[in-house]
Amino acid sequence: MVQINKPNHIFKLKPYQFSKKLLKWNRQYNDRQMPWKGIKDPYKIWLSEIILQQTRVEQGLAYYNRFIQTYPTIDDLAKAPSEEVFKLWEGLGYYSRCRNLLVTASYISNELNGAFPNTYPEILKLKGVGPYTAAAISSFAFDLPFAVVDGNVARILARIFGLDVSFDTTGGKLIFQQLAQQLLDKKKPGEYNQAMMDFGATICKPALPLCQQCPFKNECFAFNNDLVDVFPLKKKKIVIKKRHFTYFLVNIGEKVALVKREKKDIWRHLFEFNLVETKSNTPNNQLVKLFCQECELDETTFEVLKCSPVFTQQLTHQHISCRFMEIKVNKKLNKLKRFLWINRKDLPQYPFPRIINQYLESL
Ligand code: ADE
Repeated sequence: MVQINKPNHIFKLKPYQFSKKLLKWNRQYNDRQMPWKGIKDPYKIWLSEIILQQTRVEQGLAYYNRFIQTYPTIDDLAKAPSEEVFKLWEGLGYYSRCRNLLVTASYISNELNGAFPNTYPEILKLKGVGPYTAAAISSFAFDLPFAVVDGNVARILARIFGLDVSFDTTGGKLIFQQLAQQLLDKKKPGEYNQAMMDFGATICKPALPLCQQCPFKNECFAFNNDLVDVFPLKKKKIVIKKRHFTYFLVNIGEKVALVKREKKDIWRHLFEFNLVETKSNTPNNQLVKLFCQECELDETTFEVLKCSPVFTQQLTHQHISCRFMEIKVNKKLNKLKRFLWINRKDLPQYPFPRIINQYLESL
């Protein structure tokens, strides 16, 4: 049975059954023609994969043909003036990919005498080559058993096996990678990987997949549970809440009023000043009114010394805009007893949220 490190995920299909069905489909029905398919030249495979990182197959074909005509070998590409190569790349965008192409061509041509590396770790070290491209080159050119996993492969696996994790997360990627590696036909990794890519492009498509023609119709978790549109699961979008804080630093002589945060949040047990939170940016005079209500003070008992510019802090789920108002109270008032009164010069001894430290450091 296929097993991955996730409870409740033991699948009906054994790895060899999966690859057998896939390769049967590939031989019987897959008529996708592409010039890099089935070839063994690592230079051409690498070039095609780098171009396909950048564009769809239909558009990539013309670029691939032009590159191969102009630079039939990696030495030709390495010797070419970079402006000429950039010109050929024009329209694909993301020019750092083209720069990496030149760096890698010149490295292989000059440092390795034109011999393309032939192990997965060496291929992965090449500039511009990530795990997907390294697995593609390793398996297509050298028959090495490394499964390709990108969003297309993840979509197939998520639907057939009902994998309820997102490929956009680190943990999710690992689970897809593990499963893909278990399913790979280790004797025919190149054929298997190409079949997966073609299957994702022609049958198990992102929208309107051709489920009636799918060889996994009977086993597919998503199809049999009417969840084809639900899988693959997307990463949950984080909703960022905007919050507007105003801290009132209430000063009496050398002393300033602190509050310890007891609310269960990320700032729990940190100290802060008197906080007025509003739903939006609020004019200063209204903020002062809110502060008076909160502290049960009337406006004759204090004066506003200054108001800071806005400080901001980005947390995972919140964006905080914060201003600080310095208040001077003229005499001790019973109403202010609930605060912790400390000497201003002792402020550095207390732990504060970062945004408060930023303000204190700015003084
Ligand atoms: N996308 C990336 N590599 C591919 C390949 N070899 N064939 C089809 N689509 C691809």
